Amino acid sequence: MYRTSYCGSISKKNLDEDVTLSGWVHRRRDHGGLTFVDLRDREGLVQIVFNPQISEAIHQEAHGLRSEFVIQITGKVALRPEGTLNKDLPSGEVEVHVTDLKILNRSKTPPFLIEDGEEISEALRLQYRYLDLRRHSVQQHFVLRHRLSQALRQFLNANQFLEIETPTLTKSTPEGARDFLVPSRLNPGTFYALPQSPQLFKQILMVSGFDRYYQIVRCFRDEDLRADRQPEFTQIDLELSFVERDDIIALMEEMISTVFAEVQGIQFTRPFPRLTYQDAMDRFGNDRPDTRFGLELKDLTNLAGRSDFKVFRAVAEGGGLVKGLNAKGMAGLSRKEIDNLTQEAITRGAKGLAWMKVADGGLEAPITKFFTPELLEEIKQSLEAETGDLLLFVADKAQVVYDVLSTLRLSIGHRLNLIDPKVFNPLWVTDFPLLEYDETEKRYIAIHHPFTSPMDEDLALLESDPLKARAKAYDLVVNGVELGGGSIRIHQEETQSKIFDLLGIGKEEAAKKFGFLLEALQYGAPPHGGIAFGFDRMVALLAGVESIREVIAFPKTQKGICLMTEAPGDVDDRQLKELHIKKTPRLP
Ligand code: AMO
Ligand code: AMP
Repeated sequence: MYRTSYCGSISKKNLDEDVTLSGWVHRRRDHGGLTFVDLRDREGLVQIVFNPQISEAIHQEAHGLRSEFVIQITGKVALRPEGTLNKDLPSGEVEVHVTDLKILNRSKTPPFLIEDGEEISEALRLQYRYLDLRRHSVQQHFVLRHRLSQALRQFLNANQFLEIETPTLTKSTPEGARDFLVPSRLNPGTFYALPQSPQLFKQILMVSGFDRYYQIVRCFRDEDLRADRQPEFTQIDLELSFVERDDIIALMEEMISTVFAEVQGIQFTRPFPRLTYQDAMDRFGNDRPDTRFGLELKDLTNLAGRSDFKVFRAVAEGGGLVKGLNAKGMAGLSRKEIDNLTQEAITRGAKGLAWMKVADGGLEAPITKFFTPELLEEIKQSLEAETGDLLLFVADKAQVVYDVLSTLRLSIGHRLNLIDPKVFNPLWVTDFPLLEYDETEKRYIAIHHPFTSPMDEDLALLESDPLKARAKAYDLVVNGVELGGGSIRIHQEETQSKIFDLLGIGKEEAAKKFGFLLEALQYGAPPHGGIAFGFDRMVALLAGVESIREVIAFPKTQKGICLMTEAPGDVDDRQLKELHIKKTPRLP
């Protein structure tokens, strides 16, 4: 038997017991003739003591122990001497007096200390991920991840959901990213796509009558990677039949409240607030607003059109937007700091950043001369400006104004310390537009995915003004993170075909790509809808870490590389031949 207990769970309750422990040498110290070792396993540390008076030979052998050696010891649990207690350790009141030692394995000197709070470059951490994962703080993220998945499963099981797996080798599902393709050896020249989500299969499962499905499932998307995006990531994916939007929203609020409380003791009041897409854009400039702080955007387009400031007038008259943001109490910024903000705005696509300072109740800036006193008063009122504030304005196409001001809002929120990391603000964003127009492809594309149902009252708009039609789609946003998104689906073949038409997906293409779905919809498809949450994002949020790489055991870098295995890698010519694939020289 390698052990009778975990190192980290030894405590006063084990006093005078003989225990056998196995673990890694965390630290060794020689002190006053004794040798102390902190022995570590996944539950934590315990101090073990080698005393020459117990065994000279074992004490000698202990001198040879080095960091990360794997050892097994037997010994007696004793109270630590007065004055040597360690309050930071659960096992800090006791130590184990070793009577037997076995070195199970040696270790090379690790490239970094296996210690919480060490500054280690991410590249080194990912290359030696097995060592990085030995660190207590890193392991805790995976304990949390496990507890969250268990809590979710428990909730869903109790609510009549069935866990059903769907294929990984499949056909393309349009979720808006590129597919990862897998060549088929048995069918030369053809490819499977890895699923961007189980979207089509879960809808088919509803047609099959399963009624409530869930899966904690890996999804694959070949897209540009960021802190909250990995090429393979995990979704909590669900679908329900005979439900309307508000049924799903209510059940998901219950699920999120239950698991957040269970896993991290976070309490939510229900129902969660809701914001339409349009209101989210108007007030925050994006569809996943962080509502832990104010600094809301105000529309000044009408007012700008009445000013003599050419930039503003031109934009207002040209159908663009002029919006402002009150950076509370920031009038003290120097010109250089304002220039930096301007640069930040320009990087995000703005042509400039107009500003005014509020001093002694009045507005001051080189551009105030283009505004009548009445207009300046209107600006002050609209932005609730007070002495000491700095007002920032962007005039441009709507999308640019939203992008720039929502980014500035966040960075100013951080800078002014307005964001309390302990607060969790959930929020539903609803009433998304169904379609957007893709300027490069010169066609409509679905904002959510092409299986999302338009709102009943907007059906006529599909003919007259498609961009105005809203979708039965909803996103759950927490603290500025899009945690999940879903929709009520189209369950009638005619509507689905009409949407494909609008998206410029011809009959033949539709039949080729989604024929099975269109056909299934003709065999008694029930009304249905669902949602998928980003599981990695949910763990990261609960763990309070910025990047989902922290909560994925073997994540990939920004360039999609696994630094430990060095995937993706070269393959044998023989394998390529079997797959009927020829490499062409890489283009420069
Ligand atoms: P969607 O594409 O919005 O919807 O994805 C659902 C959620 O998955 C998470 N997510 C990601 N997490 C990490 N890395 C990524 N690359 C990544 N991409 C998405 C986000 C997102 O909210 N089939 C639909 C759901 C439905 O309609 O039921 C879907 O996949 O948290
Ligand atoms: P200019 O008239 O170019 O000297 O610009 C005067 C001020 O307006 C400068 O602070 C610019 O950064 C700012 N500005 C220029 N274009 C825009 C715009 N489209 N939106 C907001 N501010 C702008």
